[in-house]
Amino acid sequence: MTDIQIPAHSPLLHPDFCFGTATASFQIEGGVAHREECIWDRFCQREGAIADGSNGDLACDHFHRWREDLALLQSLGVDAYRFSISWPRVMDAAGNLRQEGVDFYLNLLDELNTLGIKPFVTLYHWDLPQHLEDKGGWLNRDTAYRFQDYVHKITQVFGKRVYSYVTFNEPFCSAYLGYEIGIHAPGIVGSENGKLAGHHLLLAHGLGLQVLKQNSPDTLNGIVLNITPAYPASDAEQDVKAAMLADESLNQWFFQPVLQGKYPESVLAQFPADQSPIKDGDLALIAQQNDFIGINYYSREIYQHDPVSGFAAISDKPNPLTDMGWEIYPQGLTDVLLQLHHRYSLPPLMITENGAAMVDEVQQGEVNDVERVRYIQQHLLALEAAIKQGVDVQGYFAWSLLDNFEWAEGYKKRFGIVHVNYETQQRTLKLSGKAYRDMLMSRKC
Ligand code: FCB
Repeated sequence: MTDIQIPAHSPLLHPDFCFGTATASFQIEGGVAHREECIWDRFCQREGAIADGSNGDLACDHFHRWREDLALLQSLGVDAYRFSISWPRVMDAAGNLRQEGVDFYLNLLDELNTLGIKPFVTLYHWDLPQHLEDKGGWLNRDTAYRFQDYVHKITQVFGKRVYSYVTFNEPFCSAYLGYEIGIHAPGIVGSENGKLAGHHLLLAHGLGLQVLKQNSPDTLNGIVLNITPAYPASDAEQDVKAAMLADESLNQWFFQPVLQGKYPESVLAQFPADQSPIKDGDLALIAQQNDFIGINYYSREIYQHDPVSGFAAISDKPNPLTDMGWEIYPQGLTDVLLQLHHRYSLPPLMITENGAAMVDEVQQGEVNDVERVRYIQQHLLALEAAIKQGVDVQGYFAWSLLDNFEWAEGYKKRFGIVHVNYETQQRTLKLSGKAYRDMLMSRKC
């Protein structure tokens, strides 16, 4: 497959439907000497934490090459660009703004606006300042108030340059991967930690959203949540229950408090009754109305009953798989959007991340990533199917603009529609990038 085709009259071709690409600060920027330390810098130093022993010191050197990268972005014909602010680049430990870091983003925002590309700003995409981790990180309730202060200060200087803000990217990953099973920074392990960190992240979302509503009422303000739909391994009642439990404790754990101001019962049960972190007023803050919710969708999981934990994902996944070992399952996107639509009263949605890691090689100056083209094509059709059945989805962002630092996998996994040679920093538009561009350009004619 070499191109991406959207059927005529598709809602995806509506002039208000927003297409973009997404990145995150730690994954692309580098420029480590121009910011303070974050938890991922520290985590990368840990023996065995990152598959290839790498770190984010240079990454895609976007800190220095941002103009070139924005020119590339513009050549794709996107409407929007989703990127994140590195908190430790713009703020020091005393809570003062760091002018050099602020200027970096002001220049980026100004250039995006000059190019007519809508800036979608993520305020937190996992790179917590290390000095806050030293005080307990997201296990410490006070971090939520530090976040509020950061949001207040940064939104004041960004002024009217931003089109959309989200407070957090995938709080589930920060909480669960970072504080419960320890495979992401800060690498802490403990069965009760995830829910505690998760509550503080949600509280910080609420506090941040409150600031956004005051300081930036004209931007589209929201949060980005990941969702991995849960399917039962069989029709057996035990497996069906296992899938439901997995969905409640991994997905709805975040959707329900944000949309309905309450935690699923299965999650509540995990807070120690005598020391619940939920204080009066927290849930009301968390459940404030969002202008939109960003959904990150990559794959699904299949669950079976497990006598100890209640549910366990099957390890023998159906094919086809991406290079991450994630099943390619576009139907899951349709299913999960409909599930959310029927369960909740939703604000408009955007698909803020969707994409696939593949084994890509440059051959004679080309990267022939046909499988990624197919992945994007299939997921766009799956998205269209959900929209046609009534789900209000207003945008789609391909993850990612560039190959980048894929967290615990280091540079081994490539998600970009643009190939990055990490030795020369050369960018090469992959076939998927060309197909995405051609689809976007044909739409505009
Ligand atoms: C998501 C992250 C993003 C990227 C993709 C592959 O969970 O938000 O930074 O790593 O996965």
